[in-house]
Amino acid sequence: MKLGIVKETRPEERRVAASPAVVAKWVKGGWEVCVESSAGDSAAYPDKQYEAAGATVVDRTAAWGADIVVKLRPPVLHADGTCETDQMREGATLVSYIFPAENAALLERLAVKKLTVLAMDQVPRISRAQKMDALSSMANIAGYRSVIEAANRFGSFFTGQITAAGKVRPAKVLIIGGGVAGLAALGCAKGLGAIVRAFDVRPAVEDQVKSLGGEFLTVKIQESGEGQGGYAKEMSKEFLEAEYALFREQAKDVDIVITTALIPGKPAPKLWFTDMVELMKPGSVIVDLAAERGGNCELTQPGEVIEHKGVTIVGYTDLASRMPNVASDLYGTNLLHFLDEMGGAAGHKVDHDNDAVRPALVLEKGEKTWPPPPSKKVEAPKPAPAPVAAPAPAAAKPAPAPAKSHGHGHAAQPPSPVMGVVMTIVGVIAAIAFAGLRFGKADAVASEETYALLQHLTVFVMAVFVGFQVVWNVAPALHTPLMSVTNAISGIIVVGGLLGTRTDGVLHGSTMVAIAATLFATINIAGGFLVTRRMLAMFRK
Ligand code: NAI
Repeated sequence: MKLGIVKETRPEERRVAASPAVVAKWVKGGWEVCVESSAGDSAAYPDKQYEAAGATVVDRTAAWGADIVVKLRPPVLHADGTCETDQMREGATLVSYIFPAENAALLERLAVKKLTVLAMDQVPRISRAQKMDALSSMANIAGYRSVIEAANRFGSFFTGQITAAGKVRPAKVLIIGGGVAGLAALGCAKGLGAIVRAFDVRPAVEDQVKSLGGEFLTVKIQESGEGQGGYAKEMSKEFLEAEYALFREQAKDVDIVITTALIPGKPAPKLWFTDMVELMKPGSVIVDLAAERGGNCELTQPGEVIEHKGVTIVGYTDLASRMPNVASDLYGTNLLHFLDEMGGAAGHKVDHDNDAVRPALVLEKGEKTWPPPPSKKVEAPKPAPAPVAAPAPAAAKPAPAPAKSHGHGHAAQPPSPVMGVVMTIVGVIAAIAFAGLRFGKADAVASEETYALLQHLTVFVMAVFVGFQVVWNVAPALHTPLMSVTNAISGIIVVGGLLGTRTDGVLHGSTMVAIAATLFATINIAGGFLVTRRMLAMFRK
């Protein structure tokens, strides 16, 4: 099956739909990949890298003529009614950002060619679809880049310094909205040494902010902004008044404000007003990530950098595209997983029962399939609002998903069926061994050894069952403390193993088991220490 990667044509777009590394994986997976000549140039992926990865570099017509065409931005519908996709074959498939609620005319045009169209912006934010969630990948990059843009315009250090020439205080950064972009911005600002505060209407964000070393700000009013699927809902007037009062206080103190507040299906909430900008110190910087939806700051000009009374307000709508190399690689990886989810090169098909794919299906052989029908498995996305500004990659969000949001905490995994079968087999073997030992020796004089073995076997079987239940129900976030607990248990095993080793010169079965237990527990302890060391090294500066 032929997969075509076409060059993006919007002037400000530097990304390409996939990096050569992703192309190499597609080629290995059986796809015949063709890349439009110079498609990756502005992302620093020259044609020769795609050729080395196993793709064929072709002209524009040939790339658009593939069975499946992948791109990033929604296809351009020209004023004269022609469309970029006019070169596609009838019945072919397009995978791209579409933003269907804002691009009805584009959808109609794509339907004429009886195309099957999958919108990457409609992949739901559910744990299972995390690896395909291109909006989150791009928001993560945008959050990081927002700090870099702020640092570029801020006239001082982020980190505090004591030098021979004097003391420099650290920069104070306020992040409004602790979603994907906000947390990425927090991590980056913290990494540069700033004092970082964050505010969000969803209480669940507090732990995430604190775990990244930020200070979580609160208001006195108790109201949860938790909407569906980890997204926010609109807040009451009283709450917003309290939030504005908090921001007025903060405006006098902070040097940099990064706004990322978003409510799905609504224009960006206005949270940073002109008077707040004027309360800020000259030289301060505001980066408004919500610029493309009208902005969280009243003065933001989408796509522009302006200055108001000494405060710089950055309203870039192409932050992810400003890091085209990594953005293309991550977007391509999302596409790779998405096409794998659809069956890969050999088994490519649209599965209406797939809860990650179905919400993204906007046209099937020219038939409009969006919004998807509500069902137990797939919940219909709420249509995004009419565009407030020019549509950009993250201008629309997938609907709040019915499952838990991966961006905002993990749930414990349900026990896997494979583990269940393994546990049952262990249980049955143990029960047979138990019965054999207990009753096989019924007429013989049951030796002390047999009873001891029975006792150990009972403890072993119980430990396996209890251990399985405990470990499998622990949330991934608690796996690190769990590792410490298992290390402690391994320590006890080593002591037990040493005590169980007989020293009468004969190699008993129990001695061999004790030696094996001591060996495995020692490996576990040593491995635990090594992993912990490596993890700690990641946090050391
Ligand atoms: P998200 O939904 O993960 O995060 C938004 C956060 O805002 C949520 O945590 C929500 O609880 C919070 N929020 C909502 N109302 C609030 C309020 N009144 N006060 C404080 N917090 C509030 O969204 P994500 O993916 O992090 O994207 C954030 C923004 O960045 C979006 O507007 C998105 O369009 C934009 N974006 C901009 C890019 C650019 O180049 N400028 C690129 C990528 C994303």
